[in-house]
Amino acid sequence: MARLNGKVALVTGAASGIGRATANTLAREGARVIATDVNDSGLQEVVDGINASAGSARGLRQDVTSEADWQKIVDDIAAQEGELHVLVNNAGIAWAGSILEMSLADWRRQQAVNLEGVFLGIRTSVPLMRASGGGSIINISSVAGLRGSPSLAGYCATKGGVRLLTKAVARESATAGWNIRVNSVHPGVIDTDIWQTVTPSALNLPGNAVDPHVIAAAGTPGGKAGRPEDIANGVLFLASEESGYMNGSELVIDMGSSA
Ligand SMILES: NC(=O)c1ccc[n+]([C@@H]2O[C@H](COP(=O)([O-])OP(=O)(O)OC[C@H]3O[C@@H](n4cnc5c(N)ncnc54)[C@H](O)[C@@H]3O)[C@@H](O)[C@H]2O)c1
Repeated sequence: MARLNGKVALVTGAASGIGRATANTLAREGARVIATDVNDSGLQEVVDGINASAGSARGLRQDVTSEADWQKIVDDIAAQEGELHVLVNNAGIAWAGSILEMSLADWRRQQAVNLEGVFLGIRTSVPLMRASGGGSIINISSVAGLRGSPSLAGYCATKGGVRLLTKAVARESATAGWNIRVNSVHPGVIDTDIWQTVTPSALNLPGNAVDPHVIAAAGTPGGKAGRPEDIANGVLFLASEESGYMNGSELVIDMGSSA
């Protein structure tokens, strides 16, 4: 039996990489998926793929930094699906380079997408999730939220923030009896397009493009980058009742890179 039958799941940043794999995996396990992103064409591909393979998905344009967008999305789900059980705060960007060269605008943009987006997602979704009987919130942090990474100070600050935001809300939820579990996922180096947004020189690497396999070869025991599906499987576990006693936890999926 599918592990998420009857559940409604919202996945942000679902057009690409980890979000795309997560939308596919949750849909395969029976969830009705609302996939959101700022990338319309990527989103359409994901939604079409899920609906063509007997899953159920619809796509909505959403900028996670916009308070108004969040309200619109949750109102739309309340009107269409009438309930929400799973929220995956996945959308993210990476600014790489020396902190001495990071402008305040870059810092604020990094914070707005990776940390404020998660705050807005939680705050806006919890009332509908509570009215739906409860559920599971999964925030995508990083191994960069567990330890510092050179050239990724701003990114690390957001991912460390996501880690403790998760724990604080997990405890508030349990104390207040919301019946919503809140956990974070910490991927290691995963082969997605996010690496193409980083210039090699910012990471002190040669060449014209950053290859996640080269990064993984340097810092991951065994030397292999992970696949988006490796993370989606962890999200699935946290979304399902199999993880029913997990709240405020950090699920590290990194092949030992932070061990
Ligand atoms: N790939 C890795 O090695 C890795 C490692 C650790 C953590 N992560 C985290 O995983 C998450 C997913 O990243 P990915 O690797 O799949 O990258 P990706 O670039 O493949 O996908 C990110 C998605 O987020 C969307 N997005 C960006 N800004 C947005 C905004 N303002 N509103 C809505 N959508 C927005 C993009 O359009 C894109 O579809 C991110 O939070 C990232 O920080 C990735």
